[in-house]
Amino acid sequence: MENLVIPGNQVIKGKIEVSGAKNAAVAILPASIIAGPKVYIDNIPEIDDVSTLLNILESMGVDIRRRGRNSLEIDSSKMREKSTLSYGMIKKLRASSYFMGSLLARFGYAEVPAPGGCELGPRPIDQHLKGFAALGADVNMENGIVKLKAKKLKGAKIYLDVVSVGATVNIMLAAATAEGRTVIENVAKEPEVVDVANFLNAMGASVRGAGTDIIRIDGVKDFYPASHTIIPDRIEAGTLLMAAAATGGELLLQEVIPTHLEAPIAKLKEMGFDITTTLDTVEVKGCQDLQPVDIKTFPYPGYPTDLQALGMVLLTRAPGTSVITENVFESRFKHVDELKRMGANIKMEGKAAIVEGGKPLNGAPVRVADLRAGAALVVAGLIANGETVLSGIEHIYRGYEKLENKLSKLGIVIYHENKNKRKNFSQKY
Ligand code: EPZ
Repeated sequence: MENLVIPGNQVIKGKIEVSGAKNAAVAILPASIIAGPKVYIDNIPEIDDVSTLLNILESMGVDIRRRGRNSLEIDSSKMREKSTLSYGMIKKLRASSYFMGSLLARFGYAEVPAPGGCELGPRPIDQHLKGFAALGADVNMENGIVKLKAKKLKGAKIYLDVVSVGATVNIMLAAATAEGRTVIENVAKEPEVVDVANFLNAMGASVRGAGTDIIRIDGVKDFYPASHTIIPDRIEAGTLLMAAAATGGELLLQEVIPTHLEAPIAKLKEMGFDITTTLDTVEVKGCQDLQPVDIKTFPYPGYPTDLQALGMVLLTRAPGTSVITENVFESRFKHVDELKRMGANIKMEGKAAIVEGGKPLNGAPVRVADLRAGAALVVAGLIANGETVLSGIEHIYRGYEKLENKLSKLGIVIYHENKNKRKNFSQKY
């Protein structure tokens, strides 16, 4: 497997456009089969999770045509009613569970392998299944496969015990064709949830209230050809902003929605960074005396859990004590041990990480455990003294479109290493 070799003490400088949101795209692709008529989707990020979903769609008989680098035409009119979804593909990404809601809505039937746990701890789907049952589906689990059947889906009132992006989206998909009104309370308000609702409505569904605590869906029978442009990826945007801030550089991010980044921007300002926003750009400039801050992750509009690791790397530069509390996932601190190998002073206390910042990191061989920890370790490598070698980099390609390409446009040098042969990134592509 290839490694990434990152020389230290680099500075990000320049401007770059943000790609389409991974967590909107991986919900909208499974949702596209609810309709039947063709749908046209733009600003789809070219990432491995999207390729996996396109393979799954094609294995079900869905016709996919590329209309440009980031544009797709999806025709599910001739797809098979019953497809055996390969566990090998399904287990690659948790978003495959969205096929439960969309197949149920289209055919009243779904057989989808349950998503496995992952690096963030157990990933239950009890709230998803609670919603499907409330809509009148028979829910069974046999040999790790979730089997759903419903003669007729009927609207229901559903209260989510946990604020869950996945459960909110999955139940919204199933309710799109249920008879009557479905009301889901205590829902996730992430911008990606709103983007999925907008896509469903573009196809002819009737979804109201996405982005608030209560979503109302009035089931419909007829859908129409639709086109939709995916929103910019706020997590990629936050990743790049924090990378530039950590290196003491300057970055102008284009094609973003600054209101989706309020919590990370507020934290960067608290740390002392100079942030300027316009309608669709965010600019960050380095700061001299970085301040330690406390970060608590919460569902949107709170500080996103997906930027917890990035915030931690940044705070290793702030002299003093910063406390980072993870309130969304059970165990999302796999990056801590790797950062400690690089010399970071971090102590764990329950679900909080106490960071004593101010001492530079030192380059070291480190292992990437999950997508966002991978991005954080890339940034740690950029700011460390000496060279850092990352293994397990396939995680990064799941969710960041051409990250190395973007970083090299911002003046960063990264090498690919395969069996001790090194290629500068720009030589490789
Ligand atoms: C989505 O995951 C995102 N993934 C995650 O991004 C993100 O970190 C997470 O939301 C939180 O914002 C996608 O959108 C594909 P949840 P999801 O259901 O839907 C518990 C990334 O790096 N829970 O909101 O799986 C769950 O255990 C990924 O891009 C239940 O208890 O997250 C967790 O503690 C990582 N029962 C909490 O809710 C359920 O039925 C939030 O999970 C469902 C969830």
